[in-house]
Amino acid sequence: MSDPAAALDELLARQPPADFTAELDDAHVAEFRDRGFTSIPRLTSDAELAWLGELYDWLFAERVQPVRGGYFDLSRAYESEGPDLQPQILSPESRFPTLRRTAVFRNGRRLAARLLGAEEPGLRGWGHMIRKPAGIGAPLPWHQDEAYWDPVFEYEALGVWMTLDPATRESGCMSFIPGSHRGEVRKHRHVGDDPAVHALITDDVEAALAVPVPVQAGGAIFHHCRVLHSSGANTSPRARRAWANEFQRPPRTRSERIERPWIDEGKRAWEARRPRET
Ligand code: NI
Repeated sequence: MSDPAAALDELLARQPPADFTAELDDAHVAEFRDRGFTSIPRLTSDAELAWLGELYDWLFAERVQPVRGGYFDLSRAYESEGPDLQPQILSPESRFPTLRRTAVFRNGRRLAARLLGAEEPGLRGWGHMIRKPAGIGAPLPWHQDEAYWDPVFEYEALGVWMTLDPATRESGCMSFIPGSHRGEVRKHRHVGDDPAVHALITDDVEAALAVPVPVQAGGAIFHHCRVLHSSGANTSPRARRAWANEFQRPPRTRSERIERPWIDEGKRAWEARRPRET
């Protein structure tokens, strides 16, 4: 089928049923509380994983922006020339709400509620997709996810990171610093000290303590919004496609002001972009 819109309609029409139930046991919950992360070998069915892979490939082939400016490379300056080294699509579910009806999203939200000790209907969630192309996929350096977020608020949040391909050391699996979620948000800066590069890095990390967490296709890692993590380059011959959904209680406004200058610098660079209109 040569018409991309028709191909998309045909693909959406054959979404498989979200009939896969993933569970966490008490050891997973204890690991999450103690180390700041835990993983399970499967979050969804083979059928949904295959279907998601097709939709994922369509989104990246078309460089879809579900929200304006919502397709960009994490590893090089906005609008710079060159091949995508680590493209990201923000909020795919805002363009395709059916993504919220997948087993990936439903299992992720239910299990996130358990790990956060929260009622599931009260949780907010949004997604992002990060693709590391075969052979050239860039690493994502050490960071805490909360370092990207508005410090006006306090967060109780975690990410459910699901991989559509085997995430190995060769393909760029994630690594974590166990227990680092108990501390504050550390000082970050933009990669290359360029605020037009979206990715953040912290130099305040005990990298010798890193624990790599390989996951098979369809597996997932649950990680606290403050746990230090990174992912490697993809030197393997196939893409490493990840879809992460973040879940949080409604954030509360902080009583005191916290300075995160890298966020202000990044916001100015973000607002200076000229994203494609579609
Ligand atoms: Ni992260």
